[in-house]
Amino acid sequence: MYVQVVGTADDALNRWVLGPMTALNRDILRGTRPAEAFPREAAAAVAAALPGGPSPGPGPDEARRLVVLLGLVGAGLARHHQERDPAHKRAPEAAFAELPGFLDGFAALAGHTGTGHPPRDTYASLTRWNLPPTEVRWHGARLAGLPSAFEDGALRTYTGAIDETRFFELIKLSETYERAVNETLDPIVTGGVDPAGPEAVDRLASAAVLLEGMRRLNADFAALPPAEGLGVGHFLDVFRQFAVHWRPGDVPPSGALDPEAIERDLRLGVDPLGYRDHIRRLLPGLLDDERARLAEVQDQPAVPDLVLTRCGRPAGLTGLTVPQLRGLVDDHPVLAALFVAQQAHARVAGVHLLLARRFLFGPQAERDRSGHGDTGVVSNRRGTTGMDESALRHLTRVRQQHRLSALRALPLPELEARAGVTALLGGEGLSAAETLPCTAGFVRAGRWHDTEWPVPRPRLGGGDGLVAADAHVSAEVDS
Ligand code: HEM
Repeated sequence: MYVQVVGTADDALNRWVLGPMTALNRDILRGTRPAEAFPREAAAAVAAALPGGPSPGPGPDEARRLVVLLGLVGAGLARHHQERDPAHKRAPEAAFAELPGFLDGFAALAGHTGTGHPPRDTYASLTRWNLPPTEVRWHGARLAGLPSAFEDGALRTYTGAIDETRFFELIKLSETYERAVNETLDPIVTGGVDPAGPEAVDRLASAAVLLEGMRRLNADFAALPPAEGLGVGHFLDVFRQFAVHWRPGDVPPSGALDPEAIERDLRLGVDPLGYRDHIRRLLPGLLDDERARLAEVQDQPAVPDLVLTRCGRPAGLTGLTVPQLRGLVDDHPVLAALFVAQQAHARVAGVHLLLARRFLFGPQAERDRSGHGDTGVVSNRRGTTGMDESALRHLTRVRQQHRLSALRALPLPELEARAGVTALLGGEGLSAAETLPCTAGFVRAGRWHDTEWPVPRPRLGGGDGLVAADAHVSAEVDS
């Protein structure tokens, strides 16, 4: 652990959040201290951090750290208040009456960040700003990264449990992979790269490899030994229950607010009916630059449209025979590269659906069957922004039935070779390659560290349970 003093008003609060607050949350949840202890103890810890009086307020960097810290405090305050009495869910903001000045102070700090941060905790504050900076590296060289609001190398959780640490790590590392994919694809749309030229082929092949890296990261997460991974009970009853409303109708943190995932979908032409309404509903939970970026990408053509038009097939490939498809791919290798990238994108969605089932929808269905029900202040029958299993299945299916899916009629090794993926992987295909040229990790104390999860080896060979389950999910959703 590289805990280092941050300096200003956030320093003492950082130490409280990293230590005593997590202990307090644990004690309240196991019933050894009353819920009322939370506002009482938080009051002293947050007093110096809330802006007040005529002072100009903190600068943007300190304001971001305070928003992360107070976001975690606010989540505890709201959760414990609502758990004291289910009727409290109807007026969630009443929780903050126990800490006068908290909501106004939080809103003022959110303003000081200069990011358009909403007046509550968010996906951005909880994961991107909270965790140390990340990088995705390609043969050891930095390809993309996500910053942090902190320089202490630590990551802040609700209860200090390893389950939350690993889950947050998974989210931020996955988003970094997505950033790398989006930065790789972007010039095909906006950078003057010929959508059918050799650079587009290279970019799409690299995007496919990066997506496979992200898929393996998520598969590795699910394969973590029980004491190192995410416990189902912890996810349902501890972690998710902190994603409560602060005000009626506001947007609590959720993976669904990952802006890089939405951008990746739009870039790859995943834009089913209703998707833009879904994005619009998420906007209040995003930052200004995320909202602006998504508006921009929604106005731009998707990569498959550009590629197909450039290859003389604007209407797509359906109805073509195998020899015709092969001839087309021979003339335009970019079709093979795009196909492989879209398949890799769909496989990431397959693993994600599997995780959502394993950690949420499956166990909750079991609780419903056994009469245990859904008793928390945050429902476990759907995600925090309201997506249920059928919504995730629908999106997964759309990602699998992409515009180039007719190319499934050709052997995958042939397409991977035409796409240049095999060349990138030393002669292996995407699934078979033992190692990939890309890795993701954290930058702590100025040094880059690979993910370093204690995943049992061999982890991704043919007999691996999760790979088999992943293939099963893909086949099932595809049918
Ligand atoms: C154990 C791991 C995970 C579980 C159990 C899980 C669970 C869920 C659930 C329940 C939803 C519905 C959300 C809602 O209604 O607000 C969801 C959506 C989503 N999650 Fe995750 N998630 C996991 C990992 C991740 C990771 C690593 C990312 C990427 C950073 C991610 C990104 C998304 C996105 C983009 C959505 C929107 C639906 C979609 O695009 O398919 N999730 N997830």
